[in-house]
Amino acid sequence: MAKPPLSMKPTGWFQVAWSDEIGAGDVHPMKYFDREMVAWRTQSGQVTVMDAYCEHLGAHLGYGGRVEGEVIQCPFHGWQWNHEGRNVCIPYQDRPNRGRRIRTYPVAERNASVYIWHDVEGREPYFDVPDIFADFGDKTAADYYPQQRLFRQGLELHPQYVLENGVDFAHFKFVHQTPIVPVFTRHDFAEPWSYVDFTITFEGDDAQKIEDVNSGVEAINGGLGIAVTKSWGMIDNRTISAVTPVDDCTSDVRFMVYIGRTPGRDDEKTADRARLFGDEVIRQFTQDIHIWSHQRYSDPPALATAEYEGFTAIRKWAMQFYPDGLSGSAADLATRG
Ligand code: FES
Ligand SMILES: [Fe+2]
Repeated sequence: MAKPPLSMKPTGWFQVAWSDEIGAGDVHPMKYFDREMVAWRTQSGQVTVMDAYCEHLGAHLGYGGRVEGEVIQCPFHGWQWNHEGRNVCIPYQDRPNRGRRIRTYPVAERNASVYIWHDVEGREPYFDVPDIFADFGDKTAADYYPQQRLFRQGLELHPQYVLENGVDFAHFKFVHQTPIVPVFTRHDFAEPWSYVDFTITFEGDDAQKIEDVNSGVEAINGGLGIAVTKSWGMIDNRTISAVTPVDDCTSDVRFMVYIGRTPGRDDEKTADRARLFGDEVIRQFTQDIHIWSHQRYSDPPALATAEYEGFTAIRKWAMQFYPDGLSGSAADLATRG
C-alpha cells in the first residue's frame, strides 16, 4: 500500500458514523485513527465515543457490550462505564474503581452525522464543526429533501487530497466534464475554517465566457475532516464531504447531498427528479474518488503558474492540523530521515 507522506493523525473533527446508525441503546464498534473504538447511545439520547477496551481485563465493549440506561456494561464481568469513561459500578464489589478511565472523545452531532474531535495531544476542541445550513445563514433542513449518501470504506487516500480539490480549478473540466474552467473568487485560509468560492457551470459549451456564467459554489472547510458546500445559480444543492483516517494508509469517505425542495411543488415527480439530481452529484464525487484513491501525493508538486497560489495556500493552511514532528510536508519528513 502507498503510505501517504502526510500524517494520518491530524487534529480536528472527523465523521465516524451517521446519527441514525446509533439509536438509543445501540453499541457500535469501529476503528479510526488506528484505534479500536466504540460508539454508544444512552437511553436519554447522548452519544459517547470512546476507546473500545474495558480497563478491567480488556474485553472489547463493541462486541457484547450493552447499554443500561445511561452507562455501558462490559460483556465480560459486568463492570459499568459512564459517558466520561469512568467506572461507576463493579457488580461484585461495593465501590467502583475511581482511578481507571477509558479514553473518550468529544462528540458533536450535526446534519445527521456523528463527529469526533481527534487530537493526539489531547487538547479540547478549539474550533467548531461546520453546519451545512446555519453556517451559510440562509436555509434550513426543511427546505431540502432528505440527505442522500455515499459511504466508501478503507480507501487509500488522505483527507488532504479531498480538500485540495477545492483549489484545483483545472480538474473540473477533465474529471467532471465542465464545459469551461471555473474561476476562484475567494481563497481565505486565515483560520482553522477556510473558505473557497468559485464560479462554475455544468451547462453550455466551451464557447461561453466565464464572465458570463451566473452560477457557483461556496465551500467551508472545517479543518481537514469536513467540507460543506452550497451551490447558487443552478439546481439548489448542498454537500458535505467527510474523510476520516482508519489507519496509516486508509480512510473512510462519506459524502452527503441535499437537494432543495421546490416551493409549492410537493409531488412525487418533483421528488423523483430531485433524487436523480442528487444521484448525479454523488456520481460526480465518485469520479474524484476514483482519482484520489489511486493518487500518490506529490510534494513538491509541479504546478502551472495559475495553480501556484491556491495550492501553496491550502498546503500551508493544512500544516496547522498535523502534530509536531509529523508534518504535512513530505520533503520535511525526507530530510529528517
Ligand atoms: S473485562 Fe470488562 S468487566 Fe472484566
Ligand atoms: Fe472534483
